[in-house]
Amino acid sequence: MRANAAGPRASKQHFGIHRIDEHDLPLDATALSSELQARLASPSYTPPILPSAAVRILELSRAPNASMRELVGLFEDDAMLAARVLKTARSASFVSDPDRVRTLQDAAVRLGLKTLRDVVLDVSLNSKIFRSPVYSSAMESLFRHARAVARITKVVCRLTSVASDDAFVAGLFHDVGAVVLLHVLSETRRDSPLPVDEAWPAIMELHQAAGAQVARAWKLSHEVVGAVESHHGMAETEDARLAAALYVADTLAGELSFSAAPSPALLEPKSELMSRRARGLLELDAEQEALLRTHALEAVSGLDA
Ligand SMILES: [Fe+2]
Ligand SMILES: [Fe+2]
Repeated sequence: MRANAAGPRASKQHFGIHRIDEHDLPLDATALSSELQARLASPSYTPPILPSAAVRILELSRAPNASMRELVGLFEDDAMLAARVLKTARSASFVSDPDRVRTLQDAAVRLGLKTLRDVVLDVSLNSKIFRSPVYSSAMESLFRHARAVARITKVVCRLTSVASDDAFVAGLFHDVGAVVLLHVLSETRRDSPLPVDEAWPAIMELHQAAGAQVARAWKLSHEVVGAVESHHGMAETEDARLAAALYVADTLAGELSFSAAPSPALLEPKSELMSRRARGLLELDAEQEALLRTHALEAVSGLDA
């Protein structure tokens, strides 16, 4: 019998007839993939609900004439969000004199809509989406990884001139399919949770498609959906450059100890072929590569603070 996610499962007592629980049978990764795919394809399946601040900032970032009043209203009632917006706007990357940013309105003007969106998503996603009572430690690893990849993807895009306003969002959501699949697993196997190590191969196999499915449902941009859907196997086309940036950022995040895998035994070796393809799409040269490592390290420093 398999142990559950939290510890060994208690045996069920039956008298006279020995009944076999289907979940007591040895795990077949193909069967688990089919089970998860069937659940995601079911008409009764609904994706997790994004926190309201995340939904609103995504709407405002798509609106051609979002007002400053609406933007500031989003975070003035949320102390944690407001503190992060002010802290980001007062950082050296945005202003030489922090005292010039006194109010949330000053901060919003300084940051601009796209950066505000990134800050709001960065703070708000952790409150709901990356949470599970069954898989809390795996969710923590995935969120830590997502935040690192979001920051490094921005660096990669800047250094390789990938013109994308969505680099941070793509990084933050790139492995959200794994998060969604863990939620599905904890719901469908509520009575006997599966250890994450056993589920991980099926989760990795399906996470790009599952991520794209929920990214569409959440109305993320077409560019983000495409990158989420293909970040482990980008095609050699011009519009695959964001997926290539994600691939490079994902690799660097792993090298800097921000891997998504819930345990070292589940770390997957990176494909040499895909690494070459991603670097080719980005036209990364040796000089940029060295610079990239330095900037990536800076980008993730302080993430664990
Ligand atoms: Fe991934
Ligand atoms: Fe990843």
